[in-house]
Amino acid sequence: MSTSIKYMTTAQIRKDFLDFFEEKGCKRYPSSSLIPEDPSLLLANAGMNQFKEYYQGLKTMREIGACSCQKCLRTNDIDNIGDSRHLSFFEMLGNFAFGGYTKEDAIHWALEFCTAPEHLGLPLDRLYFTVFTDDDESIALWTKYGADPTHITRLGEEDNFWAAGPTGPCGPCSEIYFDQGEEFGCGEPDCAPGCDCDRYLEFWNLVFTQYDRQEDGSMPELPHRNVDTGMGLERISAIMQGQHSNYEGDVLRSLLGVGEKLSGKTYGGKATGADRSLRIIADHSRAVTFMIGDGILPSNEGRGYILRRLLRRAVYHGRLLGIEGAFLTQYAQEVRAIMGDVYPALVQNAALIDGIVSAEEERFNATLDKGEALLEAELDKIAEGEQLPGEVAFTLHDTYGFPVDLTREICENRGASIEMAAFEAAMEDQRERARAAANRDAWGAFHNAWTTLSGELPATEFCGYDEDVAEGARVLAIVRDGESVGVAEQGDEVQVVLDRTPFYAEMGGQVGDTGTLAAEGVLVDVNDTTHQEGDLYAHVGTLVEGTLRVGDVVRAAIERGRRELIRRNHTATHLLDAALKIVLGEHVSQAGSLVAPERLRFDFTHFEALSSEELARIEGLVNAEIFAAEPIVTQVMGIDEARASGAVALFGEKYGDVVRVVSTGASDKPFSRELCGGTHARNTAEVGLFKIVSEGSVGANARRIEAVTSVGAISFLDERLAELDAVANALKCRPVDVMARLVQLQHEVREAQKKIAEALTGGSSNKVAEAIAGALDMGAYKLVCARLDGVGGKDLRGVWDTVRDKLGLSCACVLASVGEDGKVALLAAGTDTAVKAGFNAGDVVRAMAPLVGGRGGGRPNMAQAGGRDASGVDEALEAAKTAVGA
Ligand code: SER
Repeated sequence: MSTSIKYMTTAQIRKDFLDFFEEKGCKRYPSSSLIPEDPSLLLANAGMNQFKEYYQGLKTMREIGACSCQKCLRTNDIDNIGDSRHLSFFEMLGNFAFGGYTKEDAIHWALEFCTAPEHLGLPLDRLYFTVFTDDDESIALWTKYGADPTHITRLGEEDNFWAAGPTGPCGPCSEIYFDQGEEFGCGEPDCAPGCDCDRYLEFWNLVFTQYDRQEDGSMPELPHRNVDTGMGLERISAIMQGQHSNYEGDVLRSLLGVGEKLSGKTYGGKATGADRSLRIIADHSRAVTFMIGDGILPSNEGRGYILRRLLRRAVYHGRLLGIEGAFLTQYAQEVRAIMGDVYPALVQNAALIDGIVSAEEERFNATLDKGEALLEAELDKIAEGEQLPGEVAFTLHDTYGFPVDLTREICENRGASIEMAAFEAAMEDQRERARAAANRDAWGAFHNAWTTLSGELPATEFCGYDEDVAEGARVLAIVRDGESVGVAEQGDEVQVVLDRTPFYAEMGGQVGDTGTLAAEGVLVDVNDTTHQEGDLYAHVGTLVEGTLRVGDVVRAAIERGRRELIRRNHTATHLLDAALKIVLGEHVSQAGSLVAPERLRFDFTHFEALSSEELARIEGLVNAEIFAAEPIVTQVMGIDEARASGAVALFGEKYGDVVRVVSTGASDKPFSRELCGGTHARNTAEVGLFKIVSEGSVGANARRIEAVTSVGAISFLDERLAELDAVANALKCRPVDVMARLVQLQHEVREAQKKIAEALTGGSSNKVAEAIAGALDMGAYKLVCARLDGVGGKDLRGVWDTVRDKLGLSCACVLASVGEDGKVALLAAGTDTAVKAGFNAGDVVRAMAPLVGGRGGGRPNMAQAGGRDASGVDEALEAAKTAVGA
């Protein structure tokens, strides 16, 4: 069997494939978005997706066909991701025809591309083929163009009939396999392509799309005989790079490297343990980056849910690896660095991608932290040798999204195990409940307790604009576990409806109130208030004392201090909205807001980042309005009158006939006038002080400002001043002199650096010149092998630049140096020519690193490593020479 395969990078293969088919007359198409136009498909899963209408004859193409490199996402095998083959996101190279060329051309060209030395140059004796059961025509064609007839296998419908989805274009297919060698096989006598073992790797699927499957299962012929081929780019890259796993081709390998750096673990190529986690994060983070780049946002359904699941799984595996803190944006950065030139959306949407990834990661981490704290507390309770109750593991899974593997891992660290039988039983109960719920009639989902209650009860009367307490409020309903009940007992989690209440229910960005519902011997601790159907307010909380019955009379009191802060922040958002319109223009429109006690957040339409001058003007206008101590006036009026008075309404919001209008001051031309149902300060002066804490983007056309007021603003300033004091202290000067001192220090540092650089290059440039002069002749390239003590790790790259300048396109170098701190730096690098001739920087560094007590690796053309043992440097250089055959 032939063994030599030439090395090609992913980028080279991608380009060569598209050039090849373009030359054959196929039109080159860019990848379509991961969000398919075809509504029957959740995510793009094959190159042919964007051509569906050409297959159906609804569109025609002038050229004989098309070719593309398509972004694809498949999650049907999500649990297998991490073995050597499965990926969620991958790139598919494809060529397509809609009557413009034939099956014969497709087979002929595929073989030509695979075997021609100027293309993949794969040896024919390592290629195998499968055809659909009775497709004699394909067998004849493969043989005609050079395939060994003993390498052709017939397979049935499951393997060799392809369809994009349940309906639409489909047809029989023929696949090309690469023989990895007997040592990867199962050894069974009937081992052949299609076998489950690892010997034969399928890398190219040629579908002869000729049917259009209908809803009823019938398969009329398409208007013409078509071709749809798909070659997995990761797989062919691994083959061309002599690797046996999709993860070890250049692109995914560099993502594995990000994980290695973050976790301090070294990837060893296994499908278990830390290696599996490294693979899963590499795969999922790339998928997540591409999905958000194409406009998919995390949510609880559809594509958004798939995105969320992939992201959370990556975060969770990060924990398993012991990576601390948020880390996913570092992967996103690497994805941009290695794929951004082919997929510019990744770079254009970089800020959006990083913003969403970190927000989602932060939220999930917070949930995991909470769960972890709960778990730690539970573990404290159990004695040595006891098991963690299965119910606890279940709650962690159910409420905190804690995968049971993670719970097990934490338990094991504390020498405990989980009572798995009870956990499984609780899981089964839950599945049972879900099944029972699903079996209810189709209306079941809509007829929840609130639908019924909204038909029976009057809307809740809100008295909280003027009152903080409602005496004698009557309990009209209690909802517990989703059911309306007549009575609740101590300890129950309840949602209570009253006839009237001072509690504001979350609405228009303003958070719900907290407080208490109390009667003789009864106390409900309310931690949120929400709006339900029929304008019912639900007081959400725990019955901490006594028994509560429908019909009881209670004293409803909100937590006043908290509400005061909310009022001030709400008024501040109105002032901010008005100031934004003055400073940026009338295109500013509110896109979302959060009014909480400790801060406010305001999203608005605007297309570029705000300058610091703009921010200062906005802050100044808001503060001027605060210092003017204008009364806040609320009026109730007809919607038409409100609009005529110039009150700002929310875009797309539906309002009733009668609305509330909130203005600053009573004049005809108030600074701010808005339609609003929220609660406000009585006078702008109560807001005290307004400080913008951050400004950033949310999506392509919206910005977000976060700000603090009154007490929050003072704490913010206090913190900043304390930081300044600390800096002044460290710089040993007064706070006012910090800037001058810093400028002076920077100057000193630059001078010192200059001197060091001069000293170093003065000393080493001769050595570099000597080393270049003594380059070894390796035939196809020149190899510089040198020890350059005193040149730092970073500067070794500079030396490589010099080597390349001097020696041109066919050279490589292996450099080692011991720094002043005694640490060893290694660098190996080669030009493409050197790499093609067999030089592999990654392998060289891997051979050297252990000899200097370090580790490292990298790509075939560039690899670096560090070590602590300077005594092994010479030996390491010798090892490098042996590794390259010098
Ligand atoms: N549509 C086929 C596949 O996905 C060939 O491109 O394998």
